[in-house]
Amino acid sequence: MEQNSRGIWGSRLGFILAAAGSAIGLGNIWRYPYVTGQNGGAAFVLLYVGCVLLVGLPVLIAELSLGRKTTLNPVGAFKAIVPKSLWPGVGYLGVLTGVGILSFYLVIAGWTLGYLVRTIIPSSESFDQFVANPYEEIGYFLAFLGLTMYVVLGGVEKGIERWSKFLMPALFVLVLLLIGYNFTLEGASKGIEFYLKPDFSKIQGSTVLAALGQAFFSLSLGMGTMITYGSYISKKENIPVSAVAVALSDTTIAFLAGLMIFPALFSVGVEPTSGPALVFNVLPRVFETMPGGTIVGVAFFLLLIIAALTSTVSLLEVPVAFLVDEKKWSRKKAVWVIALMTILAGMPSALSQGTVAWFTNVEFLGQQGFLSIMNRLFSDISLPVGGLFICLFVGWVWGTKNALEEIRIGADEQTIRLMGFWQFLVKYVCPVVIAAVLLNIFGVF
Ligand code: TRP
Repeated sequence: MEQNSRGIWGSRLGFILAAAGSAIGLGNIWRYPYVTGQNGGAAFVLLYVGCVLLVGLPVLIAELSLGRKTTLNPVGAFKAIVPKSLWPGVGYLGVLTGVGILSFYLVIAGWTLGYLVRTIIPSSESFDQFVANPYEEIGYFLAFLGLTMYVVLGGVEKGIERWSKFLMPALFVLVLLLIGYNFTLEGASKGIEFYLKPDFSKIQGSTVLAALGQAFFSLSLGMGTMITYGSYISKKENIPVSAVAVALSDTTIAFLAGLMIFPALFSVGVEPTSGPALVFNVLPRVFETMPGGTIVGVAFFLLLIIAALTSTVSLLEVPVAFLVDEKKWSRKKAVWVIALMTILAGMPSALSQGTVAWFTNVEFLGQQGFLSIMNRLFSDISLPVGGLFICLFVGWVWGTKNALEEIRIGADEQTIRLMGFWQFLVKYVCPVVIAAVLLNIFGVF
């Protein structure tokens, strides 16, 4: 009964596509290529895949089972299992992180809106001029926030699920087409080599942190998004199988995004280390040289907007679900209040690309500029910290035995037999790996 008043996914595939929709977003197409470029290419890709398999997938299963068991938001989920303790603090951190990530994610999502417009109506502004223009930065930020609010106000099934269903497969096909084209460009082989031929001398402590942070970010882990989405799954669902489907589709899209960007990058002469601007500097130039490039460009940015939208929706959904469940607010009030907080938190990031000198130049945590600092703070630090506590909680407090009881419902025998390995990863491997990587940033080793 309770599940029905909160909403539940309409179908099995609906849930997988919505969770994949949350996972697949700018993290795959904007963040993954530039982080890979900054961290030396192929060797990073291997580390990244390792992080997804050894840490990402186990944490994903842990979050989904905690959510389905409690049918609650992240704060409520911890409270339901250990009422009087500090554990709900992990949920609060998740709610805060949701607003933090959304605040800068919307800036980049705004760029994709802007680039859609620029593909249709060519502009003489360079990328640097575009992002330094406060009217465009703020206007597109607010427009994207408005789109996100519209979907979240619609609720779980009609709002989120309906959109994810057919647009994610379309993105996949378009990326494949672009790979085919980009492979024919001059200099493509240099890019392929950078992306696929590992040079292990490029791995450092910071490379591992970047790989782990990227895995958490890309799979939407560590802040309770998947606890929240798990709370809307039915008991018929096979959690581990769904988790593998989500992780596999997310990693495949990211990998393909790399195959799409790196061959083109060397042919248009952009540095792999150029950071957040990377995709926006490379792809429009490819579209310019391509026959029918305007149409391809429009389709590409449209699909990227949709991919980003299914992710911003999941980011907004966490604090909203918290306010609706725990504070008994109406969905409408919760959406508006969180949206206002996101605007306040997001303005410095929106103005950090050359508009306001201080926001542009401020340095902290080895990053320059407000947006990059927020990205480092929330994606690379807060998500792994949240993930660490989720592992400790599911592994040791709730206990993997109890978690397995939940996972067993809806799963087949063969899946369950593999879960011994999952228990080992959640209890020992994940906490040790995450803790080591985090201690490393604080210079402990
Ligand atoms: N995973 C999304 C992407 O790759 C972004 C995202 C959505 C996210 N929800 C999240 C990241 C929760 C971290 C936590 O674009």
